[in-house]
Amino acid sequence: MLNESGPFKQSKILFNRAKAVIPSGVNSPVRFYEPFPFFAISGKGSKIVTIDHMTYIDYCMGYGALLLGHAYTPVTNYVKSQIDNGSLFCVPTENEVELAELISKIIPFAEMTRIVNTGAEATMNAIRLARAFTKKKNIIKFDICYHGTYDYVLVNAGQAHRGVPSSEGGIDESASQTLVLPYNDFTELEQVIDTNDNIAAIIMEPVPANTGLILPEKEYLSNIRRITREKNIVLIFDEVITGFRLALGGASEFFGIQPDLATYAKAMGNGFPIGAIAGKKEVMEQFAPMGKLYQASTFAGNPMSSAASISTIKTLIEQKNKVYPKTARTCDSIVRGIRDVSDGYGLDFVLTSIGSMFHLSIIRGERKDEGLMRKVDPRIFKLMYNELLKQGVFIPPSQFETCFVSYSHIEEDIDQTIESYSNALQKVKEHR
Ligand SMILES: Cc1ncc(COP(=O)(O)O)c(C=O)c1O
Repeated sequence: MLNESGPFKQSKILFNRAKAVIPSGVNSPVRFYEPFPFFAISGKGSKIVTIDHMTYIDYCMGYGALLLGHAYTPVTNYVKSQIDNGSLFCVPTENEVELAELISKIIPFAEMTRIVNTGAEATMNAIRLARAFTKKKNIIKFDICYHGTYDYVLVNAGQAHRGVPSSEGGIDESASQTLVLPYNDFTELEQVIDTNDNIAAIIMEPVPANTGLILPEKEYLSNIRRITREKNIVLIFDEVITGFRLALGGASEFFGIQPDLATYAKAMGNGFPIGAIAGKKEVMEQFAPMGKLYQASTFAGNPMSSAASISTIKTLIEQKNKVYPKTARTCDSIVRGIRDVSDGYGLDFVLTSIGSMFHLSIIRGERKDEGLMRKVDPRIFKLMYNELLKQGVFIPPSQFETCFVSYSHIEEDIDQTIESYSNALQKVKEHR
């Protein structure tokens, strides 16, 4: 447990201040942790530093945003070089054009890109784009995928897969246009599509990474690509996590499947707030003012975020042959180490990884069982989380969240991480 007398004294004091003026003391629910979260003051490379001056190897990494690492010098320098020129003009800038050109260069179907500020803004407008383009209303999403906190996608499956709001404040009429289906079940998807000709879009994380980490089964993505083409349904890959991370061209490049639209955020700006909707020209041209779909934002394409993204993407292009193999190797080494330790302790666990992402659940079950993560005993997760923290390793403070490796993680991090997991899992074993 985090406690006041331990290395979290200032965090506790700050959290008490925060609770008085910020709902639940946090600006995003996943940051909350019982009895209080630690507060950060800085980050460099693979490390995050708390207000109590504790340093941790970070695997939360801005929930996947920091592919290059904290305060990556070329990116921060480029942003600094822009900052004195002004932070917002709300007229077009060359940076925005350069950014869209870079995206088109590396993502073949990204004939056009509209820059936004966040992942949720990107997915919300991609869905509206699909509706405007097809003149149909329903969308399909998958139960384990997360796309942001707005009514079309913040839904649980209701009767016959029709969504109902999964949050207070949601509108039934809006949620009911969303059909929620199990991921990796193409037969069920096909049946629903065959009996409904009002489906505008399928939106999916090509590799769901918000309810544990689930890999698409063989042929699943290509079958979805085929059926969406046949039925005039817009296929949206939500690459907010996988974009620029799984490969330079994201999951689409990794699996060799081109959707009609894709949404990006996170790794696109290496920690600066930016997102994008990219896709085929004929779909993208629905956007106003030339098209009839109104989408707008004061801060879209702002000089700081655009500069961060240009610098990030240029680094990724230049160092493509280093970034992706190195992050995947680091991740593989950690995963192999954790697997050996877990096997050694005779623990039931599900350990999944792809590229620079991994997820461990201490639970009996099959990786294929998508509902599995919801069955994880939160007390076991908490024990593991707290023990890892004691050992100097910070993983996302939720059993559902994926761990992210960055280009800045180094050899010593790998060794310390495996040793930390070994100690933490020993505690879990003793507890069981
Ligand atoms: C796959 C996916 N889509 C969309 C979002 C929403 O992005 P943001 O938090 O930037 O609005 C997230 C956030 O975690 C995500 O993981």
